[in-house]
Amino acid sequence: MGDNVIILAGGQGKRMKTDKPKVLCEVLGIPMLRWVINSCEDAGLENLCIVKGFGAEILDEYLGGKYETVMQHERLGTGHAVMQAVDFLKKNEDSHTLILCGDAPFIDDYTIKEALELHKSEGNAVTVVTTQLSNPAGYGRIIRSENGISGIVEQKDATPEQLMICEINSGCYWFETKALLGVLSKLTPNNAQGEYYLTDCISLLIDEGRRAGAYLSDNPIIALGANDRRGLLKLNELARISVIDGHLDNGVEFTCLDGVIISPEVEIEGGATILPGVILRGKTKIAKGCVIGPNCIIEDTVVGENSVLNNVQAYEAEVEKNVKIGPFVQLRPNSKVLEGAKIGDFVEIKNSVIGKGTAVSHLTYIGDSDVGANVNFGCGVATANYDGENKFRTVVEDHAFIGCNTNLVAPVKIGKSAYTAAGSTITGDVPDGALAIERGKTSIKDNYATKKLKKRIEKFEKK
Ligand code: UD1
Ligand code: CA
Repeated sequence: MGDNVIILAGGQGKRMKTDKPKVLCEVLGIPMLRWVINSCEDAGLENLCIVKGFGAEILDEYLGGKYETVMQHERLGTGHAVMQAVDFLKKNEDSHTLILCGDAPFIDDYTIKEALELHKSEGNAVTVVTTQLSNPAGYGRIIRSENGISGIVEQKDATPEQLMICEINSGCYWFETKALLGVLSKLTPNNAQGEYYLTDCISLLIDEGRRAGAYLSDNPIIALGANDRRGLLKLNELARISVIDGHLDNGVEFTCLDGVIISPEVEIEGGATILPGVILRGKTKIAKGCVIGPNCIIEDTVVGENSVLNNVQAYEAEVEKNVKIGPFVQLRPNSKVLEGAKIGDFVEIKNSVIGKGTAVSHLTYIGDSDVGANVNFGCGVATANYDGENKFRTVVEDHAFIGCNTNLVAPVKIGKSAYTAAGSTITGDVPDGALAIERGKTSIKDNYATKKLKKRIEKFEKK
């Protein structure tokens, strides 16, 4: 079954001023709790139990039943939170248990695994992951002893001398599961905050003759959490720069980082260029040679080699290689733009395929359509795909030429190499190679305008 993990996620985070549990506040668009879960899973730990409290319904909805949870009805401290998971621990007693805070997102799989190694090699009952902070305010201070550590003192309970200690408790621990179960019920709330401190387990275990150790991490960010929006913004900035650093190492070009936000799961090949104002989210992939930006939001979208996206928003779309898109284009879900196509300004594409080398250059809406190769859309084409009740598809076959300001009223099919005259509203299928005109003939009334405009022109010329 492997080792156990308990993630403490009951806190409200009053100072965040949100109705949701604090652990769902996001860093780079990903809830803090998800960062912590991902690190556990990366470390090969899958037997998770999440302690919920404030906003439990919202947390349950987010987790979607994928993880075991226990409810802490009153927030009486970190020790009390772990007590709620006793039944979970008893199911797998002959193991070790990792305890983590759901609001410290940067704990990583390396630290988790290295701390467990040390924990086992030293035969500890508990191993605390610690780090040195230049400003340790607010954290529990580590009291070192000749043989490991003798305890953790919370800020509010510390003496002036203890407050000078810079080695702090990250809130991440490995416990021998049986040893933890043995002391949990002995915790008391006799301290400055009247809480059941999980950290008191350390002295209780030492009293039983067991050893407590510390794994000192040289990476202080593992301990960082956020108590308010300002703190959350700092976490976002740290994560943002660290993600971009990784891409720089891989040869991605950035000229200025203003407004550039890249989620951790995004993949970018070396040789791509990311310009200012670019937000890349979800499972987006950008291939080499692409130039993305300025000012794009690209979410869950794959972009092929050497494509250029300028001022584009794309959601769940696919763009092949050598495509040019923008400025001011939106690709809505399930849009696929094939190799060498060109999508110009003020164009929206939804649930459609745009074929190889096709040009949709200006002011056009293409929805629910299958467009072939080398098609040309004039300016201002609209597919009328929705009658208020149902949606219908439009088919435009290879080499067709759609005149400016054409309405294509779906369901409709424009045949291969067919042509629609500018300003037409096409309601029926057009055969291959044909021209379709659906508009009135021009009728001329000689000199009508000259008379009508006479006064107006004279007035202008007098000025
Ligand atoms: C705790 C540690 C402190 C450590 C710090 C690291 C104790 C007594 N102190 O302090 O030594 O330096 O974390 O961040 O453990 N939670 C619950 N239920 C509760 C209380 C807390 O689920 O009743 C959860 C919170 O949601 C949070 C985590 O436990 O995710 C830590 O709680 P928090 O109140 O932030 O602990 P600190 O006082 O910061
Ligand atoms: Ca805290």
